[in-house]
Amino acid sequence: MNKNTDITKVFADAPAGEPERQLYFIEQAKNVLEDIEREAGRKLTYDVVTFGCQMNARDSEKLSGILDKMGFEQTDSEDADYVIYNTCTVRENANNKVYGRLGGLGNSKKKNPLKMIALCGCMMQEENVVTKLRESYRFVDLVFGTHNIFKFPELTYRVLSGEDDMIIDIWEGTQEIVEELPVNRKFAFKSGVNIMFGCDNFCTYCIVPYVRGRERSRKPADILHEIETMAKDGVKEVMLLGQNVNSYGKGLDEKITFAELLREVEKIEGIERIRFMTSHPKDLSDELIEVMASSDKICRHMHLPLQSGSDEILKRMNRHYTKERYLSLVAKLREKMPDIAITTDIIVGFPGETEEDFEETIDVVEKARFDSAFTFIYSKRTGTPAASMDPGADEATVKKRFDKLLKQVQMIAAEQAATHTGEVVKVLAEQRNEHDDSLITGRMSNNSTVHFKGDVSCIGSIVDVHLDECKGFYYYGTMV
Ligand code: 5AD
Ligand code: SF4
Repeated sequence: MNKNTDITKVFADAPAGEPERQLYFIEQAKNVLEDIEREAGRKLTYDVVTFGCQMNARDSEKLSGILDKMGFEQTDSEDADYVIYNTCTVRENANNKVYGRLGGLGNSKKKNPLKMIALCGCMMQEENVVTKLRESYRFVDLVFGTHNIFKFPELTYRVLSGEDDMIIDIWEGTQEIVEELPVNRKFAFKSGVNIMFGCDNFCTYCIVPYVRGRERSRKPADILHEIETMAKDGVKEVMLLGQNVNSYGKGLDEKITFAELLREVEKIEGIERIRFMTSHPKDLSDELIEVMASSDKICRHMHLPLQSGSDEILKRMNRHYTKERYLSLVAKLREKMPDIAITTDIIVGFPGETEEDFEETIDVVEKARFDSAFTFIYSKRTGTPAASMDPGADEATVKKRFDKLLKQVQMIAAEQAATHTGEVVKVLAEQRNEHDDSLITGRMSNNSTVHFKGDVSCIGSIVDVHLDECKGFYYYGTMV
């Protein structure tokens, strides 16, 4: 049998249903990989490079779980035989970064005839990106999007089988959620868990609803089953992931709110900490605040993107809340949980933002006293409603506002953090410190980072740490 009839037969025999089909292709890819390795006289390696958010980080764990099952060896070098870029496209410079790094990958492919390059993630859902790759980056082997990430085994099988042309498989959207494929967790003791995919909010600056599609919630039973399995496997902390977790449950046959889901997750034995991301202020319910406040497991951290403090800008961003409503949520959270950390995202220079609008944002920063904030300069994303709005302020003005905001945010964050100095807090020991071998780095319930003297044997445990010194956005501490 020649190679082509072989491949035809493999496809003819493939099951139609999922996940069986992909599990089948993992086995097929394993066989082909073994042949390639035998011929090469060595193991083949892979590297999954993640850009962007927690969702992508979780998707990368899925890609890497599949590659492990196929028999590839994991490395963290882009010299690997199979390099996968899991891309982000929230801001324009994210795309530029990928194009820049792709050039280097193309060069290394010239030196390694076995090299394979795959691109996936949000950026691939943009038509102009795929056109550009087709025209100028012919050396890429595989391009797939956010809706069919579960098809990675089948697509990788095709790459391994030596298909010559760039394989491009981008879907416009899907309601399908494929469960039960292998996952390789980065940490043994903590993990992200997708509870929903996509976003229906259409904030006017944001490309996510276009590249991640309509909101779909996973069934509670599937989520709980996954977390139970993780807990049995030693996971102590889970981070429930969705673009807007507060609207969890929409569209499911079973009626369930996010707060109710949290209550169920809490009951799972072995899970000691629960986090979630991201909350939209328009959907943050009193029920959720109550559930958080009465829980020992739900972490004292709320990431609540503000985006702007100006009612006018919020309206044009399609955010569906006002400055007043936002501040009242912050007040309620701090009243019910005095030790909570509230963090946020802020965009500066949205089309038409005036000095007065910007001052409203500064005012919220001062009143809300964020424990940390990600600040961004507005980036125009083609296809979003804001892209066709009048730009307003010039670049230099926006940069000046951005610098002022950043300074303010950092000053307040440092003051907020300093208030905990001297306390003894619970810390999940996560890893050896990257710069100092004698230190362990861990996280407090409120998501702050602590470095403390300790032995690697405590990694994965929750330990008591005295916060000796605050260094702005992290602490030095001593285990007690
Ligand atoms: N420009 C700048 N920042 C953006 N974000 C989303 N879209 C844009 C954009 N076009 C920011 C928002 C969001 C975070 C993940 O990225 O603040 O909360
Ligand atoms: Fe983008 Fe708004 Fe959806 Fe967040 S809620 S992903 S900012 S559209």
